[in-house]
Amino acid sequence: MNVIKIDAVAIRAGLANMAPETRANLPYRARSIIVNVDMVHESVARLIRELRPVGLDELGLTAAIEHCANVWRTRLQTAQLSLTVDEHIDDLDEARSLVLYPIVQEALTNCARRARASRVDIQIQWHDGGRGDARGALVGIEDDGIGADLDSLPTELGLIGMRERVTALGGSIALESRPRTGFRLAAQVPAATAEGAAA
Ligand SMILES: Nc1ncnc2c1ncn2[C@@H]1O[C@H](COP(=O)(O)OP(=O)(O)O)[C@@H](O)[C@H]1O
Ligand SMILES: [Mg+2]
Repeated sequence: MNVIKIDAVAIRAGLANMAPETRANLPYRARSIIVNVDMVHESVARLIRELRPVGLDELGLTAAIEHCANVWRTRLQTAQLSLTVDEHIDDLDEARSLVLYPIVQEALTNCARRARASRVDIQIQWHDGGRGDARGALVGIEDDGIGADLDSLPTELGLIGMRERVTALGGSIALESRPRTGFRLAAQVPAATAEGAAA
């Protein structure tokens, strides 16, 4: 964006003073703006596509997560990925779907980058509520990789972001791990309550 602005400012100044050597330079600066705008456009479009789950609107959350898992199978290389999803989660509203989906994405990213696992299991269940459990989705993502010492996690950037979004909806995220014993993430994403929906 800086380069684009510098080029545009140079063109404006060039048009104003019109010294021949400056003018000769203008088409080059204009071309540079076009190339850079195209690059920014392409990156932003890709980011938006990646943030917006593929098929969520058309197919629902279950299918979007199945698609996500299929895409990730190739990235996980040697690890076997298994996925079980209760289709009841399609009842979650959009705000909750857009919190649940990135949890799966972030956990799979962590597995691919950190875990060196031979298997990754994702289980997404539905609870109708009662017996102390809230109505909603229970997400369990577990790998058998190198694990981590939870008392000294280096940054916790992705996990912090997930936790903030889930907590804002009244849900929770718990982590379990010890070095060399794998990593487990358990998230609860509650369905909208009647009062919440009214609010
Ligand atoms: N599946 C996993 N296996 C081993 N370590 C993990 C796993 N997931 C997360 N971690 C550890 O937790 C840390 C924090 O993860 P995260 O919040 O996603 O941040 P980031 O991925 O940017 O480092 C990671 O740096 C890593 O040390
Ligand atoms: Mg991460």
